[in-house]
Amino acid sequence: MNQAKHSNYARETLVTLLGRNPEMHAGSVSPPVERTSTRVFSTLAELEKAHSTGKLSDFLGSTTPEWLEEAVAELEGGDSQVIASGTGMASLAIVFLSVLEAGDHVLVPDSVFWPTRKVVDGLMRRLGIEANYYDPMAGAAIEDEFRANTKLVLTESPGSNTFEVQDIPAITEAAHAAGALVATDNSWATPLLFRPLEHGVDFSMCAVTKYLVGHSDVLMGTVATRPEHIQRLRETANQLGNSCAPDDAFMALRGLRTLAIRMRHFEEAGLRIAKWLDKRPEVKRVLHPALPSCPGHEIWKRDFDGSSGLFSIVVEKLSRAQLERFLESLQLFKLGYSWGGFESLILPVYPQNERSVTHWKDDGTVIRVNVGLENPDDLEADLDSAFRRLQEQKR
Ligand SMILES: Cc1ncc(COP(=O)(O)O)c(C=O)c1O
Repeated sequence: MNQAKHSNYARETLVTLLGRNPEMHAGSVSPPVERTSTRVFSTLAELEKAHSTGKLSDFLGSTTPEWLEEAVAELEGGDSQVIASGTGMASLAIVFLSVLEAGDHVLVPDSVFWPTRKVVDGLMRRLGIEANYYDPMAGAAIEDEFRANTKLVLTESPGSNTFEVQDIPAITEAAHAAGALVATDNSWATPLLFRPLEHGVDFSMCAVTKYLVGHSDVLMGTVATRPEHIQRLRETANQLGNSCAPDDAFMALRGLRTLAIRMRHFEEAGLRIAKWLDKRPEVKRVLHPALPSCPGHEIWKRDFDGSSGLFSIVVEKLSRAQLERFLESLQLFKLGYSWGGFESLILPVYPQNERSVTHWKDDGTVIRVNVGLENPDDLEADLDSAFRRLQEQKR
């Protein structure tokens, strides 16, 4: 759709250019929202030709999501191709169901996003797909985990809630040597900060819901892959009835325009608040990939172009009442799950209950922090006052 590849430009520039072509739309800077479920043809031959491509928008469905797919493909790098879907979870399901079948085995990091664990232990097991969890810090040692039927290794870097940065190049090398494919959940970094396909990964998934949409108003996911796998993904997506609403794709494209400047803000403000928290007497540990205390920090430095605004802190163990007091005292940090929007969020997390092969040894209370677009002075003041309320209660 875009006439030229723009690969010489910086990413800040790319996000303003990709996924649109004013010349095709009477000069309109954004592509129009095309709402359709039906295409009609003048001849039977044209109808048959459109159907034979296997691409839904050729014979029914909107082309608007394709502008987003094209933009994300260029950000993901190389000759990647992308399928957009209704949620990040749907993107994950499309990868699993494209690669795995009954009797196959999948390796999953012990730090994986909890709902992904539910898919692995629920839907996948019901379909006869075996899974084993592995230490997210295994790196090349993952080779000991492979079985003859291992078809896929899932990675997620950094890990959900505990932020271990995985050695994806080493894992990918071991997986390919064992004949398995590799998928990664790249939602934390987005393709602006880490491009998994450039590190050998076969499927790069992104919960577009988070940073790319950026305004907490749309659920969406993408999977990027190399051309040799795209047909398989497309067939699975079509068979599952995958859909990405045209209005939502438009909103994601609008979010894309400011992605780079928002990510720069999240990095600066996130690091500033992480370092401020690190100095607080109440905080035992900060789990932020850009800080040396985070497992895999050196790998983050080697492989990533920056950090986003989501990290965790470990505080002294809080009782239920203390936890409620702290969280409910906050005015700007809201209690909520789906991070990556404009608003700062906070959430207690329980890594000790979410692992099966590694042990979470720290007995402190773990709290996940999503830094939004508010002024960091206000955010620090908000946290400071909640810590004071907590101290008052402890006295
Ligand atoms: C790491 C990660 N992957 C995937 C998802 C799922 O995205 P969605 O909410 O769009 O299904 C989330 C959502 O929180 C997430 O945190």
